[in-house]
Amino acid sequence: MIAIAIDGPSGAGKSSIARSLAGQMGYVYIDTGALYRAIGLYALEHGVEPTDREKVPALLPQITLELRHRQDGQHVYLNGRDVSEEIRTPAVSMAASGVSAIPEVRAFLLELQQGIAAKQNVIMDGRDIGTVVLPGAQVKIFLTASSEERARRRYQELLAKGKDVAYEQVLADVIERDRNDSTRAIAPLRPAPDAVTVDTTGNDFEQSVSQLRSVIEEKL
Ligand code: C5P
Repeated sequence: MIAIAIDGPSGAGKSSIARSLAGQMGYVYIDTGALYRAIGLYALEHGVEPTDREKVPALLPQITLELRHRQDGQHVYLNGRDVSEEIRTPAVSMAASGVSAIPEVRAFLLELQQGIAAKQNVIMDGRDIGTVVLPGAQVKIFLTASSEERARRRYQELLAKGKDVAYEQVLADVIERDRNDSTRAIAPLRPAPDAVTVDTTGNDFEQSVSQLRSVIEEKL
């Protein structure tokens, strides 16, 4: 099986670029952030603080997660319920970042992610795919962009969905999530030693896709 790992901070364009590449190459695109988001959502729904290191692990035995792929992309099922839309709110983004620093949560998701990559050729995006989940991936890319540019893209996305948000709030959230993700003790966001770093600041979507495609073709 071939695995392409794409890691990087939120809003660097990982998911849209990875989805497009997977479509071109006939690989399955796996968005691992959706799994952390689903656990974050479950914690919120059960009145548990997402950073609670005792209560969150206690919820895990009640959780079954499944990814299914349809024409319109990946769907995530939380205990049989399709939560793909519900997990895309700013509150759930922050909750996902909270639960993701808990070792039991990462261990719970590790096997699931590795099992998916063992069955099919994947382009998997996340924060620790190249470093922890698939250290043997044939291609590892660390995709990044300036925080302002990432916040601007996220803001446009939320506006397009009709969400009422302020740019300053989105930027503050991006900075806070970056800090959480890069400073946590377990599986912090950082490039794998053998990853190729690609900075998409100032690129349009097509430029980023073709830049990544060249990196992949060079490695495979
Ligand atoms: O990629 P996305 O923004 O959907 O991820 C939501 C959160 O899940 C991230 O802020 C990060 O804290 C966490 N995450 C992670 N490891 C991954 C994917 C996501 O810690 N592989």
